[in-house]
Amino acid sequence: MDRIVIEGGRPLHGEIRISGAKNAALPLIAATLLAPGWHTLHNVPNLRDTRTIMALLQSMGVQWQWEPDGPLRINSEHLVGNEASYDLVKTMRASILVLGPLVARLGCARVSLPGGCAIGARPIDFHLRGLEKLGCTIDLQDGYVAARIDGRLQGNTVTFDIPSVTGTENILMAAALAEGDTVIKNAAREPEIGNLIDMLILMGCAIEGCGTDTLVVHGMRELRPAEIAIIPDRIETGTYLMAVGAAGGEVVLRNCNPEHLPSLLEKLQAVGLEIECGADFIRVARSAPLQSADITTMPFPGFPTDLQAQFMALMSISTGVAVIHENIFENRFMHVAELRRLGAEIRVDGHTAIVTGVDRLHGAQVMATDLRASASLVVAGLAAEGSTIISRIYHLERGYADLVAKLAGVGAAIRKEKEPS
Ligand code: EPZ
Repeated sequence: MDRIVIEGGRPLHGEIRISGAKNAALPLIAATLLAPGWHTLHNVPNLRDTRTIMALLQSMGVQWQWEPDGPLRINSEHLVGNEASYDLVKTMRASILVLGPLVARLGCARVSLPGGCAIGARPIDFHLRGLEKLGCTIDLQDGYVAARIDGRLQGNTVTFDIPSVTGTENILMAAALAEGDTVIKNAAREPEIGNLIDMLILMGCAIEGCGTDTLVVHGMRELRPAEIAIIPDRIETGTYLMAVGAAGGEVVLRNCNPEHLPSLLEKLQAVGLEIECGADFIRVARSAPLQSADITTMPFPGFPTDLQAQFMALMSISTGVAVIHENIFENRFMHVAELRRLGAEIRVDGHTAIVTGVDRLHGAQVMATDLRASASLVVAGLAAEGSTIISRIYHLERGYADLVAKLAGVGAAIRKEKEPS
């Protein structure tokens, strides 16, 4: 197993190029199952999770070509399978995203129930109820979801109890091949969903309401391959903005989209960071002590839950007390115990964490527990005095392409090494 070692306390200077969004690449790769022929996806990040979903599609007979630093080309013309096995799904819950397109294209699909994960039970009831509204028969057997329909899915109205990102994506993809119109109410509005809608429109589907919580999908009998670029990763962007906030210095993030981070950018200015935005860049600098600020995680355009852990790390060296409410997931404070090992003063009361800023964190050995918790340990390690050693970094490699190289490129003393046996 590998680990990351950071010698903290060094301000960051230079430029970082942001990669394509993991949480856009996964649904757009799944959408290629809807139409045979060669799709071309640009700016796909080379991550553990994107490699996992490509392995899943390959197991079903999908062909693909991916030149280094080139587009990912995918052709699902010769689909021979319709099953996502437990051994793949247990490594990546987002595998559930193949259920909608497979049942729409083939009339049947069998996907392992994703287990829970570190941050919560992560049920998929909204996905299944939505597919039933489109005419699917859903059976749960042997730890698998079996979905089937005789003939085509039928357009209908699907209303989500709470806006689910992948739930909205699954129903969007299924509805694209359904007969008639589907109205999705209380749909999630994350930018990644806009990227998927743009792809489905390029594939020949008519969709109204992009960016709102009500989507109307006019189903088609068949769709065509598309060529599209994956949007920049807003969570990677936010993570590096807070890395600079923690370490100090001045960095320009290239190939990002400030419009995808409205709530975070306001918060970072409120805590005292200098933020300058252009169409595809953000310049961030810290020249004064960090003020504290409260956050409550919410669906887009509210403060993203995927940036909560990193913000907690930042607030741990602020000059006040920050109150952090985690509204989306029931167990997304796994990073608290690890941040405490670095000297952070954090008290947890249910879904609320109270962070009392300290003058300085001190390096220590810590353990990554989930993707964004591990990112918060990197942010804290960059600020801490001395060495911070982060183990189990396979969590980190699921969602951050070239993180060590990107941070070393702006002056961080960071390296990856083998865990001593
Ligand atoms: C997506 O997960 C993201 N993953 C998550 O990012 C992100 O944290 C989350 O959206 C919230 O923004 C991908 O896009 C691949 P939800 P998703 O359905 O779709 C409950 C990361 O770090 N719910 O929007 O699984 C659920 O428990 C990952 O990149 C149900 O109850 O999240 C949660 O409380 C972590 N039943 C809330 O809804 C369902 O059927 C929102 O979850 C579905 C969800």
